Amino acid sequence: MSFPLFPEAASSMARSVDYLYLYLSAVTVVMTALIFAAVFFFALKYRRRSEDEVPKQIHGSLILEISWSIIPFVVMLTFFWWGAQIFFENATPPKNAMDVYVVGKQWMWKIQYPQGQREINELHVPVNRPVKITLASEDVIHSFFIPAFRIKHDVVPGRYDTMWFTATKPGRYHIFCAEYCGTEHSGMVGWVTVMTEEDYENWLSNGGVEGTMAQQGERLFEQLGCSTCHLLDQQGRCPNLRGVYGSHIQLGDGRSIVADDAYIRESILNPNAKVVAGYRPDVMPTFQGQISEEQLLQLIVYIKSLAIPGAPAGQLGQVVAPPAARAVALHQAPGTGIQQ
Ligand code: CUA
Repeated sequence: MSFPLFPEAASSMARSVDYLYLYLSAVTVVMTALIFAAVFFFALKYRRRSEDEVPKQIHGSLILEISWSIIPFVVMLTFFWWGAQIFFENATPPKNAMDVYVVGKQWMWKIQYPQGQREINELHVPVNRPVKITLASEDVIHSFFIPAFRIKHDVVPGRYDTMWFTATKPGRYHIFCAEYCGTEHSGMVGWVTVMTEEDYENWLSNGGVEGTMAQQGERLFEQLGCSTCHLLDQQGRCPNLRGVYGSHIQLGDGRSIVADDAYIRESILNPNAKVVAGYRPDVMPTFQGQISEEQLLQLIVYIKSLAIPGAPAGQLGQVVAPPAARAVALHQAPGTGIQQ
């Protein structure tokens, strides 16, 4: 019977995490052995040999004190540098990563693909392709953990987190919830299926009956009445959302922010938090409580799909500037391909 010490290593990151872990363990074992050896050695060497023996007084040694401070400090810093390197690598998804959206909900994982497929407790990914996961929670803090990929990330209500991996071996691997989230926390278990590129394309072509995520989002945009104020390609009561995603936005209070997932989410749930310059607050109602995290993600993917292809991020802010400035800016913005 085999008794593996480690779960299978099935992602590009898995080995480097294992090496760091082994290094940590090795240093810990060596340090523990050294400390115990010193304890026993000194206990024997300096034991009291007679009843009336008085030890010689020592008043410290600067060299000794400095070296037992500096050397462990430098050794500990190697953990820090190595760990930080892996942390940063883990925290930066490659530009070409494909998107998958995961919502944690007591007690299941709801998974959505941009192509429109939706699953519960099942994640399908192709081998050797970076996958970026956007995490959201419908209720409490969960933690998305795939031991075989050596990645784990808290899923926190009210915000988006991202993680990424490149699976390196076709197969099926466990997903766990690694944060106690209520009665059935231990049952909040799922599977990642890593498929060959071919099998994955096949899998993708089945399902997605509700249209792509962007189309699902577009339907919501109509149903919720967003489209009555956010007109596309003409001025409505609210900003035109074409080209907004990823652009720099000038706010009424003088700040400038980037329209990312978090900003769009906030603007749907709390529309007055960051109002675009030139627009009145209190025009848009909140959709807090009327829309699930999954629907929020669909809306975001829809708004993302309104980006103008080929336009560099940060150049599109003018599109949502006030009407007068906007008309001018549209004619000046090079390469945005907008005709109005
Ligand atoms: Cu979700 Cu524990």
